Amino acid sequence: MQHESWKEKVVYQIFPRSFQDSNEDGNGDIQGITSRLDYIRSIGVDTIWLSPVYESPRVDQGYDVSNQREIDPMMGTMEDWEELLRQTHARGMDLWMDLVLNHTSDEHRWFKRSRSSKDNPYRDYYIWRKGEKDGEPPNNWTSYLGGSAWTYDDATGEYYLHLYNKKQPDLNWDNPKVREEIQKMVRYWIDKGVNGFRLDAINVISKDSELPDTNESKMEGSGYKHFKNGPNVHEYLRELNEKAFSHKEGIITVGEASMVSMDDVARYTHPDRRELDMIFMMESPSIGNDPNDAFKSRDWKLTELKEIVTRWEKELLNIGWFGLFASNHDHPRMVSHFGNDKQYHAESAKMLATLVHTLWGTPFIYQGEEIGMTDYPFESIDQLDDQMALHYYRTRTEELGENPEEVEKRVLAGTRDHARTPMQWDDGENAGFTTGDSWMPVNPNHASINVKAQETDPGSILNYYRKLVEIRREHAEVVVHGEYVLILEEHEQVFAYIRRNHKSQGLVLLNFSEKDAEFELPEDIGVCTESAYRLLGNYESDGEDGEHRGQNDDTNAKVDVVPRKLRPYEAVVFGGLKPAPGK
Ligand code: GLC
Repeated sequence: MQHESWKEKVVYQIFPRSFQDSNEDGNGDIQGITSRLDYIRSIGVDTIWLSPVYESPRVDQGYDVSNQREIDPMMGTMEDWEELLRQTHARGMDLWMDLVLNHTSDEHRWFKRSRSSKDNPYRDYYIWRKGEKDGEPPNNWTSYLGGSAWTYDDATGEYYLHLYNKKQPDLNWDNPKVREEIQKMVRYWIDKGVNGFRLDAINVISKDSELPDTNESKMEGSGYKHFKNGPNVHEYLRELNEKAFSHKEGIITVGEASMVSMDDVARYTHPDRRELDMIFMMESPSIGNDPNDAFKSRDWKLTELKEIVTRWEKELLNIGWFGLFASNHDHPRMVSHFGNDKQYHAESAKMLATLVHTLWGTPFIYQGEEIGMTDYPFESIDQLDDQMALHYYRTRTEELGENPEEVEKRVLAGTRDHARTPMQWDDGENAGFTTGDSWMPVNPNHASINVKAQETDPGSILNYYRKLVEIRREHAEVVVHGEYVLILEEHEQVFAYIRRNHKSQGLVLLNFSEKDAEFELPEDIGVCTESAYRLLGNYESDGEDGEHRGQNDDTNAKVDVVPRKLRPYEAVVFGGLKPAPGK
């Protein structure tokens, strides 16, 4: 079978404002990114996804776009962007843009016209409904920021819908003109040479046209049954694919879509349906969040994570495709959240990366993850920019009268700003991010956690990522395209699985706990581990404990047996497993 080579890509996500400043204004920008392309290339990735760089008033860090065809002056100029594209291509990498298609900024020219009068040709570009000022909004949906999803507009005496901030009005996808404008805009970027797109909040674009009340009592984001994977979403995406993505061969798309069933993912990504190439697996990074309250955490068990991963890996095999990530701009830092960012900082960062890069699906690396950047020690709500966190704090304290200290603690732990502090390039002032005043505080731990220090340390997290990416490429037939088989299903410390095709097999063992973990590989797994050799591990294979009998050099060190014990957060990847006799 001929495998599609795009599936072998590894993607690096950039949050531009926090990556690299080039003009001393304290904000990352496009020229800054261009100056760091060699570094990105050195990780081995083939694709860069840029979070939005379009003109924007930035109530939601660029996810509120006021002009989808222009570059935000804070980020630079169109010439800067074109140079970035050229330089990215010159290094053999692709560039993807972020498409924010569910909503625009209220400062977008479409919305300005739309709100100006009821008979303006742009009126139907957004979702307007009758209502009384200070009366009941058209329905009881709540926005993701809390409070009604509707805002009354004095100019025409009607309400408009916004699933996010009131400065992010939702577009009316049922209007064919809106869809045409979007298709044209996407073609515009394709003509400029873009290679793919990440589609923001794409599964909420189609609302039930009756806009019925919801019976859920969620504080944020209620009503989702009436717009998540809504009535016409597949039709609209097929049309977008036909009229825009198919405009040029090889355009790759990944959709951000939460709360999807496996059937939904299959519908979005089955190649015959020609909608999207992949959907992110968002269920796993959110495993620790209370589904009814984004800032409350819940305890979770490793077996739950295994269930999620295994469901996606098995049910979508050869049916759909998905993107894998452990961190992005919307989550606290993965090593602080899922690992131990103190005692086992490097071990746990590497172990988590091993999971993401040895599964079936496309791995995404979020800037700074590759050096194990951690959460920021925020101490006060006043330090935050994250609009979701600020709204949450306000509603819980002012409207619900909750204890401000407790709410603050929750918000400081869960804010998206942990992921938005500047990239840590070196141990100098502002971590080499800017020579101006940084828009976000720089984590003081840049003194030890930074790119420069890790470049020269062969055992660094950064160099481990490089090896992971290389192994994925070298063993693509198994790691990218092979089947996944979960073993040790009930184990609460060890996540273990086999990757295989008809010719070869690999074994991945991951200790998710900060204690030693013992296990017995089941005999009926159908492979013989005697011939296994160690491809990679996050502890030196020092031979001391008798079970790690390889040489210090990780690569291809022969071992006689796979260990039966893993040290805290230990990760080991083996190749060379043979079918067990008689299998
Ligand atoms: C997506 C983005 C997030 C943004 C939201 C609204 O979830 O990842 O950052 O706030 O959409 O556009």
